[in-house]
Amino acid sequence: MTEPILRVDSLAKSFGGVRAVRDLSFTVSAGEILGLIGPNGSGKSTTVNVLSGVFPPTSGSIILAGEPIEGLPEAQRVGRGLSRTFQTARVFPEFTVRQHVAMGCHAIRQVNPFASILPFGSWRREQADIDSQVDEVLRLCALHPVADRPVASLSSGQQRFLMIATALAAQPRILLVDEPAAGLVEHERQELAELIRGIRQRGIAVVIIEHHMALIMALCDRIVVLNFGAKIAEGSPAEIRANPAVIDAYLGEAA
Ligand SMILES: Nc1ncnc2c1ncn2[C@@H]1O[C@H](COP(=O)(O)OP(=O)(O)OP(=O)(O)O)[C@@H](O)[C@H]1O
Ligand SMILES: [Mg+2]
Repeated sequence: MTEPILRVDSLAKSFGGVRAVRDLSFTVSAGEILGLIGPNGSGKSTTVNVLSGVFPPTSGSIILAGEPIEGLPEAQRVGRGLSRTFQTARVFPEFTVRQHVAMGCHAIRQVNPFASILPFGSWRREQADIDSQVDEVLRLCALHPVADRPVASLSSGQQRFLMIATALAAQPRILLVDEPAAGLVEHERQELAELIRGIRQRGIAVVIIEHHMALIMALCDRIVVLNFGAKIAEGSPAEIRANPAVIDAYLGEAA
């Protein structure tokens, strides 16, 4: 079997006396869509925060493409191929959409701030690379028509797609998305599902946190269910839907 792109082993995170994540283990393969679901406060966002390096785990290991990353700062994890979006919209309203997405490229390219004193040819090549990468991501995320508009003028749904686009511009091997459908209307949810399938088609693994069960069930190859910080089930959408512990803890209420 090939090494999974992400291996999470006995991960735990406590905040004082609150055990937000406990003994959590799972793997994600390249090109797989993994759902992470569970009731409010069950530790989903904390898991993403620990995986992406917002704060260190209390214990456990995080292996990205065969290498431990739990000690690395956030930016280095992005450089190694792990990108994420946030549960609440976090965008820079004064940027244009294109500039915003370009920020994601710069996150990994470390473009020299003194680029203007570099030989002009190499600076121009770098810039042309970034431009074409940004264009590709804008098209994939259906943001091309609004590329030159200020971010502040986008709808809240478009801002959610922009967060994904900016994360994608860093060319991740795995993308973690925390409640991307929050506040989206039905047709936007359909577009989101198409986008996530398009991302998977590029060989990028996706971990998606969502409360919208129809979306989760339609999209995911596999689902991990958390309750009080611990994994209570893992399986295909059909297995999860029929799991009594999951129905008890979550689906009964979500349905
Ligand atoms: N930075 C923090 N400091 C202290 N406690 C925190 C912090 N972040 C999360 N918690 C606590 O950890 C637990 C898990 O929260 P988390 O945000 O991970 O849940 P969640 O599954 O994402 O919930 P939701 O579905 O509501 O987004 C909660 O009890 C929460 O109050
Ligand atoms: Mg959350």
